[in-house]
Amino acid sequence: MSRRRPGTTGPGDLPGKGATTVTTEPTARDEPRALRGRALGALTAARARTALLTDAVDDGELTAQHSPLMSPLVWDLAHIGNQEEQWLLRTVGRKAALRPEIDSVYDAFEHPRATRPSLPLLPPGEARRYAAEVRERVLDVLDAAPLDGAGRLTEDSFAFGMIAQHEQQHDETMLITHQLRSGPAALSAPEPPAPAPGELPAAAEVLVPGGPFTMGTSTEPWALDNERPAHHRDVAPFFLDTTPVTCGAFRAFVEDGGYRDPRWWAAEGYAQIRRNGIEAPLFWSRDGAGWLRRRFGVTEPVPDGEPVLHVSWYEADAFARWAGRRLPTEAEWEKAARHDPATGRSRRFPWGDADPTPERANLGQRHLRPAPAGSFPEGASPLGVRQLVGDVWEWTASDFLPYPGFSAFPYREYSEVFFGSSYKVLRGGAFGVDPVACRGTFRNWDLPVRRQIFAGFRTARDV
Ligand SMILES: [Fe+2]
Repeated sequence: MSRRRPGTTGPGDLPGKGATTVTTEPTARDEPRALRGRALGALTAARARTALLTDAVDDGELTAQHSPLMSPLVWDLAHIGNQEEQWLLRTVGRKAALRPEIDSVYDAFEHPRATRPSLPLLPPGEARRYAAEVRERVLDVLDAAPLDGAGRLTEDSFAFGMIAQHEQQHDETMLITHQLRSGPAALSAPEPPAPAPGELPAAAEVLVPGGPFTMGTSTEPWALDNERPAHHRDVAPFFLDTTPVTCGAFRAFVEDGGYRDPRWWAAEGYAQIRRNGIEAPLFWSRDGAGWLRRRFGVTEPVPDGEPVLHVSWYEADAFARWAGRRLPTEAEWEKAARHDPATGRSRRFPWGDADPTPERANLGQRHLRPAPAGSFPEGASPLGVRQLVGDVWEWTASDFLPYPGFSAFPYREYSEVFFGSSYKVLRGGAFGVDPVACRGTFRNWDLPVRRQIFAGFRTARDV
């Protein structure tokens, strides 16, 4: 699979010894019938979204490369089917290979994105038929698969959840390709709800008290290997922005000459923006005294009240320094998002343990943009932090590193090979992230120069 590759270390709770103010995370165990239903629902929803993204353009656009940063959409389509064939048909179902000769073409590690257009790719019609044929056989495997006591891969229907998350992550990748393509709009969606004036948060930042909390998970059934295991982490008190940084706030940094002042920038970040002539977020362009942005084929004024998108880690880091602040660490972000001061427990989401709903978070490509900053009062954390989940991925200060006790599963290339100082962690998920691939513990990572992803940020400061 490409980039974010599924894995898990298997269940087992964090022993409750140590700090008395910290208790373990919630347990979420389901019966086999419910697990089968959840797996079927997740696979079906992912395929519906894949169809929406690939049916929105013609065959010429499916096979074209819209940016050297991305694969042709038709590569993603057959890659989704091929990974499903390899994991669910061959590994879980122990069935004979359907199309073993194409495995290499759709191996993300063998072929960098820029080279994928030159591969002997299945044409659009054949790619669709292949993915559909795999899915038909997978549903038989799901019907027959033991989902309890038969090993880590099928425990809690993990492999099915892993493949549903994989498809949704490629759907997010394809949504980025849609954003990068030129030409008229091919996608449409309703506008996100705006908060009523009385619903806006009262303060610009909140104080997150210091002390230990439980980070990561050992019990979330479909959590991936890098989210595991649950462990205690101590965090000093800090202030955190109530909402993500807005386009309006970021525009002030741009107009203050922020992109031309090396004081605010990490040296390699400043060299990178100068080398590439970068002077604003990706997709922004000057329009007289103001700014426009291009969003899924539509050019519009930059919306001041919306969380800023398409900034690199370097741009986020420079803004924070200019503002006299800093990016939160990954542990700070997760404490703000999951720790409940009233009980000392880490919850699945900022609002509690219940799954996301449209009232709580902007997820699942229901909208093609973030909601205005201050939206979703029902999704606020106990301390009143808004939009931690959904809207925009949030860059953190932290490198992508394993948790204490990490063990790679089902294979090293999901996350272990990416650990180190090259990648920065992003948290929270964006409007184009499906709830199945979004949790309070979910970790995304990318290069600090990356700008086409749906990433923004919020800032913090020491007490
Ligand atoms: Fe992949």
